Amino acid sequence: MRREFLKYLFDMPLLWLGIAVLAGVIFVGDTITDLEIAFAVLYVSVILLSVNFGRTGAIAVVGIVCAALTVLSYFLTRHGASHAGLINGILSLVAIGATTYLAIRIETFDARARAAQSELARMSRLMIVGELGTSIAHEVSQPITAITANGNAALRWLAATPADQEEARRAIERIVMDAGRAGDVIGRVRRLVARSSPSRDTFDLTEAIGDVLELVRGEIRKNQILLRTELASDLPFVAGDRVQLQQVILNFVMNAIEALADVDAGARELLVSAAAAESKITVSVRDTGIGVAPARLDRIFEAFYTTKPNGMGMGLAISRSIIEAHGGTVYAAPNFPHGTVFGFTLPLDGKTRG
Ligand SMILES: Nc1ncnc2c1ncn2[C@@H]1O[C@H](COP(=O)(O)OP(=O)(O)O)[C@@H](O)[C@H]1O
Ligand SMILES: [Mg+2]
Repeated sequence: MRREFLKYLFDMPLLWLGIAVLAGVIFVGDTITDLEIAFAVLYVSVILLSVNFGRTGAIAVVGIVCAALTVLSYFLTRHGASHAGLINGILSLVAIGATTYLAIRIETFDARARAAQSELARMSRLMIVGELGTSIAHEVSQPITAITANGNAALRWLAATPADQEEARRAIERIVMDAGRAGDVIGRVRRLVARSSPSRDTFDLTEAIGDVLELVRGEIRKNQILLRTELASDLPFVAGDRVQLQQVILNFVMNAIEALADVDAGARELLVSAAAAESKITVSVRDTGIGVAPARLDRIFEAFYTTKPNGMGMGLAISRSIIEAHGGTVYAAPNFPHGTVFGFTLPLDGKTRG
């Protein structure tokens, strides 16, 4: 409990400072004003401010401290009618108690909504990984086949007279490399499907995009799509949930692949780009697929809106909620001369590369 509390303190120092200053001002005001004035009711604003912590424990702590300060300044206040002061104090305590209770309720519902949202996002990642199943299996079985072949080769080189240790060593080196490749694929899938609460780390967006594209490589090859990337070399690190943002890119890319299935094989192009400008970062996925009718563009982000026989219509809705939770915006526009471009922008908070 104490370590948790210290963590609160260090997590959001500015908010704590604001709350402490406001509570201090109210405490001083409450103590120097007349007992007839219910100054302590203003603590309600401090409690409402503490909702920003997003933690019920922190709200409770703030509520209890406010109540204690109210009682303390009742005893410290020297002037005014103490009878009226007692009634005012009790009224203030009731207001503080009720506000704390409501604030905790609000935060509990909020936390439940957030958990539901991230569980939904995970379900849809699981679904996508399920769809990618054959491609991923292929991606893993390829290096394993190569490992078997190189293992046999190494055995032959060693069994020969005289044994060719140099060739055997090279075959084993290839085995190690292929094992690493297979491990990478599995690692990427595992990170994507892991159950984790939303985090706010700083991470390398270029690498995160690269991971997603590795995952869909098989699918892109199978569908004869020409994939290009334009990832600015000076992209700053972004703050947010790496897996959730990867999910958004994955949704865009999977939709693009599906939109490209209906055009001629020679004309299937996919461009994934990322660039930073001023105080924001933009990631976009551009395809030359069947496109979206302009009249429908503003409906596609709605939940359950789908034009596919087996579609769920959740991909873009989840993507939008993820991006908005990161303080960004999603957009969709026609691509010239055909196809669609989907993208999102995220605000940068002055973080630089490294
Ligand atoms: N790249 C795209 N090109 C054309 N239409 C698209 C594209 N991406 C999304 N759409 C349209 O938006 C709808 C909603 O997409 P989404 O929310 O991912 O659900 P789903 O893929 O399950 O249909 C799709 O059914 C499709 O009509
Ligand atoms: Mg989709």
